[in-house]
Amino acid sequence: MKLKGQVAIVTGAGRNIGEEVARLFAAEGAAIAVVDLDRPRGQRTVEAIKAASGDAELYLTDVSKGADVAAMVKAVVVRFGRVDILVNNVAISDNKNIFECTEEDWDRVMNVSLKSQFLTSKYVAQQMVAQGGGGKIVNVGSTSGWQGRPRAIAYSAAKAAVANFTRALAVQLAPHKIRVNAIVPNKIGSPVGKDDFDPTRRVDNMLGRAGQPIEAAKAIMFLVSEDSSFIIGENLFVDGGTMAMDQTGV
Ligand SMILES: NC(=O)c1ccc[n+]([C@@H]2O[C@H](COP(=O)([O-])OP(=O)(O)OC[C@H]3O[C@@H](n4cnc5c(N)ncnc54)[C@H](O)[C@@H]3O)[C@@H](O)[C@H]2O)c1
Repeated sequence: MKLKGQVAIVTGAGRNIGEEVARLFAAEGAAIAVVDLDRPRGQRTVEAIKAASGDAELYLTDVSKGADVAAMVKAVVVRFGRVDILVNNVAISDNKNIFECTEEDWDRVMNVSLKSQFLTSKYVAQQMVAQGGGGKIVNVGSTSGWQGRPRAIAYSAAKAAVANFTRALAVQLAPHKIRVNAIVPNKIGSPVGKDDFDPTRRVDNMLGRAGQPIEAAKAIMFLVSEDSSFIIGENLFVDGGTMAMDQTGV
């Protein structure tokens, strides 16, 4: 078991990528703080982990609010004693262009998809430094942060910021032996903010198929395990090669 005895906070663990990360980490021996806004989704993940003889607790938390995040981290430490791993997985998309996106849309997407990573990292890193022994943080970005898209403006900006937030955080936490990296997914399971996997969703990548949530979870597992001990401040593409290929077909 790669994570035996460790405690992991996984945000947005109620569905899709976050759910799969929580279940995989639990199968590798970690105790899981399942963080989500949606009670039924979060409970489903907790129950699945317990049914597989793992340990998990649900924390209904809005990760875009500093006071809620601080309270959540405190409660996790009371319940589990420490925090070794943080996966910043929550995001929402505006799915709008510049003309449609309102100021309120912009602020909401930025707060949930970017500010949340700042808040959780801040409070978790404080705890990791206080307890000693270092830790691992993995942020979840998106290929939307690496190229322009017609149907997302705030989300694209937030995810671009995640890439360099990851590098800055890695530089600042390296002296505390906290190793920070990110994954950069494209088309994995259901689209962000949706329940259902659409088999007709257009997929332009080298593998000719959408990714499965477990494929993102395994990449995150690699980044929190000692298998990636010399990798830090990295944005690892988990995208079926879409960003490495010419999309014009010539
Ligand atoms: N699914 C994809 O194809 C894809 C592609 C690129 C990047 N990503 C990234 O992967 C991550 C996960 O995406 P997904 O598709 O699994 O997401 P999802 O929408 O399926 O699940 C996100 C979970 O986060 C929860 N959540 C939303 N706002 C919250 C808040 N303020 N506080 C706490 N919980 C909140 C939701 O209830 C939900 O359970 C995101 O960062 C996303 O940008 C996904």
